Amino acid sequence: MAKSDKTVFFCKECGYESAKWLGQCPGCREVGTFVEEPTGPRNKIVRRSLLNSMPVVINEVTANDEERIGTGFSELDRVLGGGVVPGGLILVGGDPGIGKSTLLLQVCRNMSGVGKKILYISGEESLKQIKLRANRMGEFSDNLSLLAETSLDAIEAVVMETKPDVVVIDSIQTIFREDISSAPGSVSQVRESTNTLMQMAKGNTIPVFIVGHVTKEGVVAGPRVLEHMVDTVLYFEGDRHAAYRILRGVKNRFGSTNEIGVFEMRENGLHQVLNPSEFMLEGRPTDASGSVVSCLMEGTRPILVEVQALINHTAFGMPRRTSVGTDYNRVNLLMAVIEKRIGIQMGDYDAYVNVAGGMKINEPAMDLALVMALISSYKNRAIDSGTLVFGEVGLSGEVRAVSQAEQRVMEAKKLGFKRCILPKVSMKSMKKIDGIEVVGVSNIREAGEILA
Ligand code: TYD
Ligand code: MG
Repeated sequence: MAKSDKTVFFCKECGYESAKWLGQCPGCREVGTFVEEPTGPRNKIVRRSLLNSMPVVINEVTANDEERIGTGFSELDRVLGGGVVPGGLILVGGDPGIGKSTLLLQVCRNMSGVGKKILYISGEESLKQIKLRANRMGEFSDNLSLLAETSLDAIEAVVMETKPDVVVIDSIQTIFREDISSAPGSVSQVRESTNTLMQMAKGNTIPVFIVGHVTKEGVVAGPRVLEHMVDTVLYFEGDRHAAYRILRGVKNRFGSTNEIGVFEMRENGLHQVLNPSEFMLEGRPTDASGSVVSCLMEGTRPILVEVQALINHTAFGMPRRTSVGTDYNRVNLLMAVIEKRIGIQMGDYDAYVNVAGGMKINEPAMDLALVMALISSYKNRAIDSGTLVFGEVGLSGEVRAVSQAEQRVMEAKKLGFKRCILPKVSMKSMKKIDGIEVVGVSNIREAGEILA
């Protein structure tokens, strides 16, 4: 067999390389992840790095935060930690159709509008298709150039020649290096292409955005080494049918990963949602039983959401339980706690739980709101619409402390809520907040009595 026909096996998850097929990857312990691919011309790889190899004293390295480039979206800038860092490699992952290309084209539009020279490279869409999308967004500046290309060597040549301020690659799975014989999107192509892009970004201090598709399991297709190589990993998520989208930082070398950005998809592109709480509570019923507003923390950001429960007498022998937007087992657990600790028998009742607006939450701080929604629906007694509820519930029915209670109360106050029901133990660490009544409860019985 000719040398170039040789194949090796790669783990799709972590990029582990092996001469023979393995059932379980020794690197990441995943099962059935090995794929066969031709080897790359290893010995031909030349060192392309332009960085010099002399050590430099740390105090002689100049870098300041003012060099960051704003994206024109404050929601995105916050997730990035204050803007794009020159030379940074940013991976934007997400389900197909979630709006990755839309977001990046709008970022290109914003940046080119303030005089930055942008190169948007698409391996997925033709120039006409991109233009059709762009037409919906409005006017574009001449600083933005488009390139429909999938060969990395060609891309590199264009970047070297035109020296743009920012480069966008849509998507990494369509890009290929000619010296590697496996197909675009395969483990070795994705890995080596990212490597080349990283050297291009660092060597020329050009920030590069890379779009990455995700697999069914929700990770960026290609090996996990892709996530190790880049500086920043952002995931764009949300229900395709709900209008809002959340941009979440899962790795960031230049800022915190706690931040999220909220966007809304409209017919002319994405719009920032500067006040997500207001957005989530839109259209909320004011006097319906089973509806309770709670507050979850997305990093440092409080967001109010409406939790709904519907309890109905079972028509058939087996009660039905469903939950949308929250953990099904958690709902069952909380119902068992209500039965045992308050004595409300829910065994003959169907229970449906829903988080309005398509949010997905699994923060324990939502427990008390779920409990109150369930009791409220069971008793068919509405909790007044100016009340916010949060707290973790334990198996003995005790209401446990949650973090950042003060921020949650402040957010409720900002949106005109009049009363907060929260864990009594959390009150100790809070300073007094005027203009909103704070009711501490130590167990779910006390909480239930508020509805009595
Ligand atoms: P797109 O950005 O192509 O997604 P991705 O690159 O993540 O696959 O997503 C586009 C979706 O958004 C598509 O279903 C249509 C919709 N959309 C709008 O609703 N308004 C718009 O202005 C645009 C450009 C797209
Ligand atoms: Mg796309």
